[in-house]
Amino acid sequence: MNEAIIQVDGVTKRYGTLAVLNGIDLSVPAGRFAAVIGKSGSGKSTLLGVVSGLEKADSGRVLIQGHDLSQLDEPQMADLRRQTIGIVFQSFNLIPSLSALENVLLPTFFEKEGTAADRRKRATDLLAQVGLGDRMHHRPSQLSGGEQQRVAIARALVNRPAILLADEPTGNLDAETGAGVLGLLLDMSRIFATTLLIVTHDLDVAGKADMTIEMKDGRIQHGNA
Ligand SMILES: Nc1ncnc2c1ncn2[C@@H]1O[C@H](COP(=O)(O)OP(=O)(O)OP(=O)(O)O)[C@@H](O)[C@H]1O
Ligand SMILES: [Mg+2]
Repeated sequence: MNEAIIQVDGVTKRYGTLAVLNGIDLSVPAGRFAAVIGKSGSGKSTLLGVVSGLEKADSGRVLIQGHDLSQLDEPQMADLRRQTIGIVFQSFNLIPSLSALENVLLPTFFEKEGTAADRRKRATDLLAQVGLGDRMHHRPSQLSGGEQQRVAIARALVNRPAILLADEPTGNLDAETGAGVLGLLLDMSRIFATTLLIVTHDLDVAGKADMTIEMKDGRIQHGNA
């Protein structure tokens, strides 16, 4: 047993006849920042989907904190995702009828410890940290793409997850705002020992990573994974 919090062994996945993941082996130690790079269509988002448990691998294993995802039932999987994994989707996946603040609060609703006031403070602090202190009561349709992306980042961080999976989290942001968001992710990683697995086309983001995973045609090309 090593210290890897994310362990992927020989994972394959196809969509119909299209082989999207062709035998992925990956090991990310706890608290590290791993950047996933590679061309459009190379399988980066699919890899994140499989690691999150939202997508099922056809073969191979995904272990999160030593738990084999294929052995968990739906409620166990949902618990793991809620308590351990924060996800920033490429398409944000905000709930349209909820305000920014309500979207960020959503993952905290099942929390047993702490008060509603604590949770609200955590959410409002995060929204302020991503520069949306004055947009908390706007709905997604009233926010720009980059603002929606930052709401999605705050939502993914609100439960202080052990693992943050983020799909191009700075993709819609200008350089300055992107650098601020990256700084927040790195701070979270330092303060809470959050493990970061981040898909990025941004060389500044990849340059800050402890390890780089380059995907090509559903395989890991090189890097120290
Ligand atoms: N649900 C799906 N059904 C069929 N094919 C899919 C599905 N999801 C992804 N694919 C295909 O799998 C391949 C890999 O997709 P994926 O989204 O993982 O790529 P990516 O590396 O994230 O690309 P990008 O940089 O454009 O986001 C693509 O060819 C895509 O068309
Ligand atoms: Mg993608």
